[in-house]
Amino acid sequence: MSTPPAITARGLRKAYGEKVVLDGLDLDIPAGSIFALLGPNGAGKTTTVNILATLVGADGGSARVAGHDPAREPDAVRAAIGVTGQFSAVDGLLTGEENLALMADLHHLDRAEGRRRARTLLERFGLVEAARKPAGTYSGGMRRRLDLAMGLVGRPRVLFLDEPTTGLDPRSRRALWDMIRELAAGGVTILLTTQYLDEADQLADRIAVLDDGRIVATGTADELKSLVPGGHVRLTFPDAAGYDEAARVLTGAVRDDAALALQVAGGGSVPEIRGLLDQLDRLGLDADRLSVHTPDLDDVFLALTGRAAPAEAISR
Ligand SMILES: Nc1ncnc2c1ncn2[C@@H]1O[C@H](COP(=O)(O)OP(=O)(O)O)[C@@H](O)[C@H]1O
Ligand SMILES: [Mg+2]
Repeated sequence: MSTPPAITARGLRKAYGEKVVLDGLDLDIPAGSIFALLGPNGAGKTTTVNILATLVGADGGSARVAGHDPAREPDAVRAAIGVTGQFSAVDGLLTGEENLALMADLHHLDRAEGRRRARTLLERFGLVEAARKPAGTYSGGMRRRLDLAMGLVGRPRVLFLDEPTTGLDPRSRRALWDMIRELAAGGVTILLTTQYLDEADQLADRIAVLDDGRIVATGTADELKSLVPGGHVRLTFPDAAGYDEAARVLTGAVRDDAALALQVAGGGSVPEIRGLLDQLDRLGLDADRLSVHTPDLDDVFLALTGRAAPAEAISR
């Protein structure tokens, strides 16, 4: 890889009492890329971000963020990073503008420069009209945008986004995705955590699947998907007789008796589907519904961990 890593971690360990939260975590994140740490609730995502962002000390291992050691040079790391937490840093009693001014103070910017950056960020994030209203009156999407803007006041080279879109409606989510892509295109290195497999797929150059404090796989979305056997076609039948007959003929199909549905392995190409329907036709059988399922990251999680991703991650 030609670009130097913006974030590295080697053997990061963290325990709270008996509970091992991080069990030897390694990361290599090239500068200017988007990296997703994907895992269910409790996997250790926030703990990882907190250690790299100097907010929590590790029990073992080492890390470098923007060329500095979070444990030994926390000030240098803090000067180079922005953090948007899972739990928003936005103060609901302050206006959007005031929240940004507060961040400018934390970064020791002079007032004129602080105001300039605040104005630019309010424009960029579509918050000009709301700038003088208390952030407590903002919608969820506006709050997240303000939170992200606050993380950018210090012009970070490395940005940590801990579950940036959890709880957002699809439109706000898409808007935030665009902003995240734009930041990466501008050269910012982004480590984002997510429970949403499609979010990692949409945004990340590389993905690490975190399960119980361990990385169980790393790769591009395509590489992860290739770990999973191909997709399947699902056929639903109107009556039990037709269903049983089809199940006898389509050998190898997986039965779902409750739904009178059969899953037939295969990629779901047009010739494959045509062949399948012709086969049923010849027997005078009719399926009343057909759907094609290409493997997604949910399947990857299942293949890697032997468990389904938690319901939250697959409900959308
Ligand atoms: N300060 C803490 N004290 C005790 N246990 C903690 C603390 N922070 C996190 N944990 C535990 O560590 C595990 C991982 O937490 P976390 O990193 O927040 O996971 P995630 O962000 O992936 O949901 C969880 O089991 C959580 O309960
Ligand atoms: Mg978390």
